Amino acid sequence: MIPPEIIEEIKFRCDIVDTINAYVPLKRAGSNWNGLCPFHSERTPSFTVFPATKSFYCFGCGAGGDVITFIMKRENIDYRAALELLADRVGITLPQNNDNMRSEETVRRERILNMNREAARFFHACLYDPNIGREALAYLTGRGLSGAVIKHFGLGYAPDGFGALTDYLQKRGYTAEEMSTGFLCGISKKTGRPFDYFRNRVIFPIIDVTGNVVAFGGRVMDDSVPKYLNTSDTPAFKKSRNLFALNFAKGKCAERMILCEGYMDVIALHAHGFENAVATLGTAITPEQARIMAKYTKKVIISYDADEAGQRAANKAMKLLGEVGLDVRVLKVTGAKDPDEFLRKGGENAKEKFKLLLDNSRAQFEFKLEGVLSRHDITILDERIKAAAELCQIISEVWSDAEREVYIGVVSDKLDIPRDSLKNDVKRMIKKREKERRTEEKQTLERTTGGWGDRINIDKVKNPYAVNTEEHILGILLLYPENLAAVKNGSLSLTEEDFYSEFNRRVFGETMAHYDPARPLDFGCLSDAFSPDEMGRITSMIVRRQGLGDNGSGVLQEMVERLRGETRQKRLSEAGREVDAIEDLLASQRQKLKK
Ligand code: CTP
Ligand code: MN
Repeated sequence: MIPPEIIEEIKFRCDIVDTINAYVPLKRAGSNWNGLCPFHSERTPSFTVFPATKSFYCFGCGAGGDVITFIMKRENIDYRAALELLADRVGITLPQNNDNMRSEETVRRERILNMNREAARFFHACLYDPNIGREALAYLTGRGLSGAVIKHFGLGYAPDGFGALTDYLQKRGYTAEEMSTGFLCGISKKTGRPFDYFRNRVIFPIIDVTGNVVAFGGRVMDDSVPKYLNTSDTPAFKKSRNLFALNFAKGKCAERMILCEGYMDVIALHAHGFENAVATLGTAITPEQARIMAKYTKKVIISYDADEAGQRAANKAMKLLGEVGLDVRVLKVTGAKDPDEFLRKGGENAKEKFKLLLDNSRAQFEFKLEGVLSRHDITILDERIKAAAELCQIISEVWSDAEREVYIGVVSDKLDIPRDSLKNDVKRMIKKREKERRTEEKQTLERTTGGWGDRINIDKVKNPYAVNTEEHILGILLLYPENLAAVKNGSLSLTEEDFYSEFNRRVFGETMAHYDPARPLDFGCLSDAFSPDEMGRITSMIVRRQGLGDNGSGVLQEMVERLRGETRQKRLSEAGREVDAIEDLLASQRQKLKK
C-alpha cells in the first residue's frame, strides 16, 4: 500500500535512537544503547537499541522490533497509523487520495480530537454567556480564579439539560456513535437517543503535550456527588498516560516538577507562578505517568492533600517515581487541606510562603523516617527492633551507596543501634530482593519468549528443539540477507515445507516475499504482516544470532539439515496417525456390517 522507498525514507529520518530516546532515556553502551524498558517494570535496564540493525529488543520481556513496531506498541496504534505518526513528525506526506486510504484508526482519532476541540469551545462560550453560565462563572471567580486564568486553562461550563452539547455537535456532523466513543454523551436505553454526559458542571479540559484536547473533567458546583466526572479512555485518550497541565508545565520543569492531586491545586499553583505543577487525572499515579515525568524533569515534589489518604498516596507515588530514577521529595502543606487552600489562605504573601514549603520539602527518607518513628514507641525494646527493621527495609530500597551510608548513620543515632549491624541487615535485604527480582524477570522471560506455554509460537511446546533450530536459521537469514539470495537462486535448499512450526513458516514466507535482491532487506518490513508481539519474537532471533560468533554458511547448512530431519519425523508421525485413523474407521465399519 505504501511504497517501500517512502517507508525507507521515514525510517531514515526517524532515527531509531533519537525516536526511542524521546520516550525512554537511553544511555550508550558500546555500539548500542540501553534504558529501562517502557513495556514492563524493571529496575535494571534490559531494553536495548541496536543502531546497526535499526532494532530494539528487551531482554526482560521480549518486546522488540524496529522503530515502527516501537511506535505501534508504545502508542497502541496499528501499522498504518504508526507510519502516519512518524511521517507527520518529519514532514513526509504519505500518499493518499481520500480518507479511505488512511487507517481507520487515525481517522477516528482525529475526528474525536476535532470533536473535543469543538466541545471545549462550546463549554467555554457557555461559561461566558450571561444567560447560561452566570452561576458557573461566579463559582470559579469565587474560588479565586481571574478571567485570565480561566481563559488560560480554557475552563468552561456544561449547561444543565440533556441535549445542549449533543445538539451542537450533531449540527456539526458528529454522530451519536462518535460522541459516545469520545465520552461526550451517553445513549438512552429507552429511546436510543444520545444525551449529554456532562451536565451543570464546570469543565476542565485536559490538553496533551501536542495541544490536542483529549479529555474533560467536570466538577459540580455544590456538594452533590460525584464531585467530578471524567472522560474514560477513548481511542484518543489514555488516562494512565496523561497529566493535567503538562502542556503548560513541559517547558518549565527541567529542574523540578510539582505533582498535585487535584485540578484546582494545579490551577492555583499556575496562577501563582508555579507553572511546573501537574496532576494525575483522578487516579493514583501510574508507572507510565512516572516514566513520562522522568522524561521532562529530574526532581518531583509531591504535593498531595494534607489528610491521611493524601499522605498514603504520597508514599506510593514516592516509590513509583523513585523507581524511574527521579529525585523525589514530599511537601506537606500546613494549616490547609491542600495547596489550593494554602495559596488562598496565604493572601498577599501566598507565593513566598509556598516557595518556602517547596524549598523545605523533605527528602523521601526523612519523610518515611518520621512516619516510622510516629508509629513506634522506641523506648520499648520490641518496638525499637520493629522500627529498625522497617527502616532497614526502606534504606535497602535506596540506590546510591553514599546515600545509604548517610541514612544508616541517622538511624544508628536515632535508635542507638550500632552502624555495622544495621549495615548487615540492609545488605541482606538488598541481596534477597535482587534474587527475587531475578527470578521474576526470568519467569517473565520464560513466559513471553520461552518454550513452555509459548503464546506466539504455539508449536514450540511440541518440539522445542526443532523450533529453536528454526529460530537460529531465521536469525542468520535476517542478519545476513546474502543468504536469502542463496535461497532464492537455489544454492541453499530451503523451502516453507522444511519448517516445523506454522509461525516460523510464516516468518520465512513473508521474508522471502519481501526480499528484493536489488535492495537491502530491512526486517522492519515484516511489521506490516506481524503483530508487535510477533515482531518481538522475530527481533529476538536476530539479536540472539548477533551475539554469536559463527554465522557462516556452514552453520546455516547444518542447521537446515537438522530442521529437515525433525520436520520429516513430524510428517511421518502425522501420516502414521492418519493411517491409524483410517484403519480405525474401516474396522468400525466392518463391525457394523457384521451386526
Ligand atoms: N477526583 C475525581 N472524582 C471525584 C473526586 C476527585 O476524579 N469524585 C479527582 C479529580 O481529578 C480531582 C482530584 O481527584 O481534581 C482530587 O480530588 P479533590 O482534592 O477532592 O479535588 P480538587 O481538585 O481539590 O477539587 P476541589 O478543591 O474543588 O474540591
Ligand atoms: Mn481541593
